[in-house]
Amino acid sequence: MMYTHLMNEFVIQYREKNDNDDDWIKKVATEQWGSDEIISKDHLYKVEALPGFIAEQNNKPIGVILYAIEEKECEIVALYSSFEKQGIGSRLIELVCEIAKITKCQRVWLQTTNDNTTALRFYQKRGFVIAAIRTNVIEAQRKVKEIPFFGNDGIPIRDEIELELIIKLE
Ligand SMILES: CC(C)(COP(=O)(O)OP(=O)(O)OC[C@H]1O[C@@H](n2cnc3c(N)ncnc32)[C@H](O)[C@@H]1OP(=O)(O)O)[C@@H](O)C(=O)NCCC(=O)NCCS
Repeated sequence: MMYTHLMNEFVIQYREKNDNDDDWIKKVATEQWGSDEIISKDHLYKVEALPGFIAEQNNKPIGVILYAIEEKECEIVALYSSFEKQGIGSRLIELVCEIAKITKCQRVWLQTTNDNTTALRFYQKRGFVIAAIRTNVIEAQRKVKEIPFFGNDGIPIRDEIELELIIKLE
């Protein structure tokens, strides 16, 4: 699968992730989320083991989305764009939503933390709604993973917020 769009005068290409992307994805995950293993509910995902899409410019990765499909639900496990506000995050989400439709998932969902106001704004403007708020769960996760006490804009990191997009049957 290959798609292109123009960012200013540059061409951005989107393709499925492959093994050659693993080092870059691990570096991004470690920088963004503190580890190349991502905890989500009762799962611990190794980023290299997940399927996903890469946005690239001149053959260099500049964005990634990773997902996991289980029991007709598609979780966005990670999303990152190194050139924000150029449409990359939106396109990566669209690609995963297309996969969710093809595989007949009932919903696409993700979780973020209470400090990530950028993600909360971004997903809600793209049709996702808040499906659950798990208050004060981050404290327990600090026992198995290093998680900073303060996140975006100095907001204390405490809660997990689950967002979902219900897939309409056609
Ligand atoms: C959240 C994140 C993935 C968004 O990625 P992004 O590439 O900036 O997303 P987009 O460019 O598609 O959209 C961001 C905004 O830019 C706007 N935009 C898109 N193209 C634009 C352009 N050419 N000029 C101006 N604005 C533009 C979009 O409309 C959107 O604004 P809106 O939400 O008000 O509609 C990115 O901020 C990120 O990587 N954050 C750090 C990691 C993270 O928090 N991940 C999510 C964890 S759950």
